[in-house]
Amino acid sequence: MPINVLLIGSGGREHALAWGIAMSSKLGKLYSAPGNPGTAKLGLNVDLDVKNHGAVWEFIQENNIDLTVVGPEQPLVDGISDFLEQKGHAVFGPKKQAAMLEGSKEFAKDFMKRHNIPTAEYQVFSQDEFGKAADYIKEKGKYPVVLKADGLAGGKGVLIPESEEEALTALKELKSGSLSGAASRLVIEEFMEGEEASVFAICDGDTFKVIGNAQDHKRVGEGDTGLNTGGMGAYSPAPIATKEILEETEKEIIKPTIDGMKEEGNPYQGFLYVGLMITSEGPKVVEYNCRFGDPECQVIIPRMKSDLLSVIDACTKGNLSTSEIEFDDKYRCTVVLASGGYPEAYEKGKEIKGLDNVENAIVFHAGTKLDNAKLYTNGGRVLNVVGSGDTLQQAIEASYAEIKEIDFEHMYFRKDIGAKGLKHLL
Ligand code: AMP
Ligand code: GLY
Repeated sequence: MPINVLLIGSGGREHALAWGIAMSSKLGKLYSAPGNPGTAKLGLNVDLDVKNHGAVWEFIQENNIDLTVVGPEQPLVDGISDFLEQKGHAVFGPKKQAAMLEGSKEFAKDFMKRHNIPTAEYQVFSQDEFGKAADYIKEKGKYPVVLKADGLAGGKGVLIPESEEEALTALKELKSGSLSGAASRLVIEEFMEGEEASVFAICDGDTFKVIGNAQDHKRVGEGDTGLNTGGMGAYSPAPIATKEILEETEKEIIKPTIDGMKEEGNPYQGFLYVGLMITSEGPKVVEYNCRFGDPECQVIIPRMKSDLLSVIDACTKGNLSTSEIEFDDKYRCTVVLASGGYPEAYEKGKEIKGLDNVENAIVFHAGTKLDNAKLYTNGGRVLNVVGSGDTLQQAIEASYAEIKEIDFEHMYFRKDIGAKGLKHLL
């Protein structure tokens, strides 16, 4: 029986997931809510308010959807999986309580402590204990120090002050500034020295399989400078994630996470994103995310040789252990083409030209919009250009060669995506 799928989300990650799902011979119809012009080429985009779980359920029934795949964190943290599962519907993505691994930094840190999972030392404070928080920072006297708002803050909830003075200013900002909602509780943690990498697993609540690793480029500027963004580019596999590091990550971090969640009555089903710091003492967790990375998904899904939809379907049935997941041994690199000004204010509505001339890369859409058969920019991160190659260098070159074909007013992209990976290969 063909499987009709509803995919929730609209970013580059969801275009990549739709691309993977659309290759499956098991797919019936694919709907994306709300999707983007990229997903529209692979199925039907539908204008659904995904916050309205009742409306989503109605759509599922009316269109005989067999399986819903949730891309972003917000609907998961809001409990869309719980709601649909209660209706007896197959949904891929963790339930609310399991999504707390991303939804609450305090939950994630306490969970790691309970299960001896390596991470930075920390302490949690409520907003009326910020005096105590200041004392804690002063007493430690170690800078930089890391301040994290407990709740979802769209990637803006982490401050890394370099001195006592900066830390006290940051505390004030967290108490009364724009982050005060997410920072009703605050995690203060030790700064970990090292290089970051991400490892991804797919999980069925009981078991997991590692599906790849990547390095993101979170800062807007070359050489990892400037403001944090959702991610300006990524590549996979990441040479820093050596066989030893990956074995240690699987044994000391991912397995205890999946086992621990199950033991605590919150079996984890869905993609698990583990953000790591590779320190001199080995890999330690910087953060968990309860979904695939964006743009990391765009470089991992194209590496997958197995049928993505079958694997996802197996997860919703608790049958992952019987699935074999295979990957090709090529490298992938994605460069994000962004609107000039991002992650601060930027203009939308610039016509995008040249996409038809791209021949040797996959282009995943993110913030784009179709109007009268013309494509326009419609967000900060606009497109992802994914090159592939037998070496990392070739993958990087393939992305940048194809970017030359694409243009829109004030298009901005980092010129050094992947360079930190090449450094490890010297
Ligand atoms: P998070 O939202 O937890 O991923 O934090 C955002 C970024 O802050 C991470 O990608 C790291 O670059 C940095 N960061 C967070 N926690 C730490 C830490 N304990 N030590 C060093 N850097 C950190
Ligand atoms: N690329 C970072 C993230 O998806 O959170």
